[in-house]
Amino acid sequence: MFESDLLDPYEKLISIEVLGQSVEVPEKNRLLRCFQYLSLNTISFGDFCWNGECTNCQFWYHEPGESEAQDKTALSCRFDVREGLVVTRLSPHVEIEGVNK
Ligand code: FES
Repeated sequence: MFESDLLDPYEKLISIEVLGQSVEVPEKNRLLRCFQYLSLNTISFGDFCWNGECTNCQFWYHEPGESEAQDKTALSCRFDVREGLVVTRLSPHVEIEGVNK
């Protein structure tokens, strides 16, 4: 099971979309932690600095109601998750069981 001391304190799960799939992740956490929550092994053993330097955690996203033409990119280890976020593309380093692995 997931080791909750990896996560910042949270009270509830929120819904986001990752590559067309709806998933529930802990609020008030960085997005890469949320990916780790979904896929402990692949993210824990992945090639990540967790520190905004390697860029291996890059992803592309838009807000609910926007289209992919409005996609922006960011580093998931630096990005606070928010309800309804639509993740459209992931760096090849980010493998999430049940989503793209
Ligand atoms: S994990 Fe290295 S930049 Fe995010």
